[in-house]
Amino acid sequence: MKKTNILIATLLGFAAISAHADVTNAVKLEKKYAAFAKTANPEYSSPSAVDGKFFFNRKIKLANGKEAACASCHTVNPADEGKHIITGKPIKPLSPTVNYKRFSDVDKVEEQFTKHCNDIIGSDCTAAEKANYIAYLLTEKTPSTKQ
Ligand code: HEC
Repeated sequence: MKKTNILIATLLGFAAISAHADVTNAVKLEKKYAAFAKTANPEYSSPSAVDGKFFFNRKIKLANGKEAACASCHTVNPADEGKHIITGKPIKPLSPTVNYKRFSDVDKVEEQFTKHCNDIIGSDCTAAEKANYIAYLLTEKTPSTKQ
């Protein structure tokens, strides 16, 4: 009995460790989007964190006349916890360097990209935008110090 408990605890421990391991998944996904982007446009060379940052903060006028950006909910520092502009609910940090769960589930990532890109820019983001976006998020490693 005791042995079984130890075994289960060990297995869970390993599972937790691998789920929190590192940013490998995000980097893999960034490369995958970059490969798609290159197929669509041979002039696309590599993911640009600068373009990703611009995209993240760019305010766009919505159909209701209000302006919003990805940063409106995910905050200007994606290493910080975000806050939903409509519901006020907290959103876990988007940066995979502080939240390793981000960009680990391709289906979820695609679903969220499609939804939020449509919400903000009115269409899905391109593969290039997605690659740049992840490239930028990977550079944001430091949560802001709480005031
Ligand atoms: C109205 C608020 C809001 C805005 C604006 C917003 N998001 Fe999100 N975003 C969320 C919420 C809520 C989640 C999911 C919460 C969670 O998983 O913790 C999320 C999660 C995501 C995820 C999932 C990442 C992962 O692996 O878990 C991606 C990708 C994403 N957003 C991209 C974007 C992009 C790109 C933009 C701008 C075009 C954007 N978001 C703008 C609220 C927003």
